[in-house]
Amino acid sequence: MTQQKPSSDSLRAILADIAETMAQEPFRGSVADYIPQLARVDPAQFAITLATAEGDVISVGDADTPFSIQSISKVFTLAVALGNQGERLWSRVGREPSGDPFNSIVQLEYEKGLPRNPFINAGAIAVTDSILGQYAPKEALGQILQFIRFVAGQEDIAIDPAVARSEQETGFRNVALANFMRGFGTLQGAPERTLGVYFHHCAIAMTARQLALAGRFLAFDGCLSPGGARVIKARMARQINALMLTCGLYDGSGEFAFRVGLPGKSGVGGGILAVAPGQASIGCWSPGLNALGNSHLASRALELLADRTGWSVF
Ligand code: DON
Repeated sequence: MTQQKPSSDSLRAILADIAETMAQEPFRGSVADYIPQLARVDPAQFAITLATAEGDVISVGDADTPFSIQSISKVFTLAVALGNQGERLWSRVGREPSGDPFNSIVQLEYEKGLPRNPFINAGAIAVTDSILGQYAPKEALGQILQFIRFVAGQEDIAIDPAVARSEQETGFRNVALANFMRGFGTLQGAPERTLGVYFHHCAIAMTARQLALAGRFLAFDGCLSPGGARVIKARMARQINALMLTCGLYDGSGEFAFRVGLPGKSGVGGGILAVAPGQASIGCWSPGLNALGNSHLASRALELLADRTGWSVF
């Protein structure tokens, strides 16, 4: 049965209902504490913004509070790397779900240092390294930030230096992953140089509103609006969405596809970017995480949203 396309008034009502339901949830998950700066965030916060095909931007909750986008940045670095390198990128990183936690190292040894996909930490570090093959660290970061500002249409998006420092001081597992890949030759640059850029792009701060705006190019075939300004090729947008659906929530990707049915990308800051192709880009945030490192309430909220709108891709 096809549901009718929800009007902007009904989307507003749906978001208000979801926010109310989330406010009553007794279990909110726990904030990430392996990056000390993230452990300081108030877990009571919740936000959701829709940027729709009609050009409406509809929000509820703390949609103008910046949070650390963390692994959601991997979507934007992938888009930048694909834009620069095209299909060549796939010699550096695979396209299969890992079924393992985001910071796992086990498959890397079996698979000769080639990471399973661009969204696990090892894969994202390899993608960042591939950008560094062409650009100096400052230029690479500048390119990533410029890309995000352009797709969001917001100039005031920046890196939170305290979060970058916090992760630089404690990111031992990422240091291990980078060195392990360097040993296999699948990381080509100096590990500390690549990690410096990786930690900084993970430390970009955005609001739920900015995140929803930044995801529009994935919802609208590579364009900022249906038939509007083109950011990347339609084929690349489809490929990124496919990877988000299969790998975007790590070992929680199957459950998210089952419950929500939308491409999504999570971050340990509690954000999830979800894409309803042809309908809307969705920025959702609540800092409390489930055991797999994905936002508990944002996952729940997106499940309710997909159910009420009929936006599941299935
Ligand atoms: O590398 C890390 O561990 C963090 N900068 C990002 C991890 C992350 O966001 C995983 N997402 N759910």
